[in-house]
Amino acid sequence: METKYIKWIPENGFDTTELEEAAKIIRDGGLVAFPTETVYGLGGNGMLPEAAKKIYAAKGRPSDNPLILHIAAFEQLEGIVSQVPETARKLADAFWPGPLTMIFHKLPGVPYETTGGLDTVAVRMPEHPGALAFLERAGVPVAAPSANRSGRPSPTQMIHVREDLDGKIDMIIDGGAVGIGLESTIVDMTENVPVILRPGAVTKQMIAEVTGEVIFDPAIMSAAGDRKPKAPGMKYRHYAPRAKMIVFRGDVAKVTDRINRELREYCCNGGYRPEEIGILAAEETADGYSVGQVVTAGSRRKGTVGKYIYGALRKFDELSVRLILAESFYGLAQEEAIMNRLLKAAGQCVVDV
Ligand code: TXA
Ligand code: MG
Repeated sequence: METKYIKWIPENGFDTTELEEAAKIIRDGGLVAFPTETVYGLGGNGMLPEAAKKIYAAKGRPSDNPLILHIAAFEQLEGIVSQVPETARKLADAFWPGPLTMIFHKLPGVPYETTGGLDTVAVRMPEHPGALAFLERAGVPVAAPSANRSGRPSPTQMIHVREDLDGKIDMIIDGGAVGIGLESTIVDMTENVPVILRPGAVTKQMIAEVTGEVIFDPAIMSAAGDRKPKAPGMKYRHYAPRAKMIVFRGDVAKVTDRINRELREYCCNGGYRPEEIGILAAEETADGYSVGQVVTAGSRRKGTVGKYIYGALRKFDELSVRLILAESFYGLAQEEAIMNRLLKAAGQCVVDV
């Protein structure tokens, strides 16, 4: 299949003919990748079982891993979920449109193909103006996982989507680089107390300020990965670079020292050539390494680590390194989300310095 490319530009938006073409593809059961403020999504008509099947096929994703329905207006919830708890209304008031996904009991019209066989459904109203225009025009809830092949880091630029899905889907909307770079926070609203199933830009504290109580799904923070997470997608080894990765946790200066010592050790005694070792560093510390291929994941000071970390992990695949030594990124606004993704990418391989 030939993939058509169209653009959404911040100042000008869409060409209206192209926007209608994108919306029609969705209504007719085809697939369109589109930018959101978190990561690019791979969209299909959320009410059509065949569209969900196509999404799983294009991603190479297990079909028990449910999809998020994207909407452009709060009223669209009525056609998807059986009940909206008061706390969910408050969260929507506070964070929609935005990087928050909520889980509700689904109505029968939402196909099990979309929800991976579950009686609950995940819903999000993104904030990205291009995404909103596209969703509004499509007129149906759009099921969209991140637009990467399963097991690859989520796409934060159009070229990442092209790398993974060119020739496999009908259309890709190029909206430039995304703003946040990590997937939305997922909160399960079907329990008495809201449960965070995946940390994101909307933090636990921000949610607690609205709902009073909120807890983390214990499984997502378990370093050993020995508990079963409630979000089926969180159990897979996601966001995985091809090389083995070790995360060094602790004070930034000590971590840099330790990585430098490890570098010498791997090269002198470990049989690695310097170019076979990647280092994941922040802009501020990137110059502190004597050998190896340093890739920067944004700046601690400017708070752009979340935005660039997936791009950095993809870069390591291109460089064909065999080993990645990674700094950790604590003390940032998005630390929960960043460290959750980084530790998953490393398969929970951590050294405390
Ligand atoms: O920021 C985002 O959320 C992006 C953009 C495109 O909106 N989407 C995204 O989708 O990250 P995806 O498919 O990569 O991740 C969806 C996650 C998976 O971990 C899945 O298991 C979980 O949401 N999920 C979906 N429906 C669920 C449900 N009913 N119950 C529990 N977890 C659910
Ligand atoms: Mg994903």
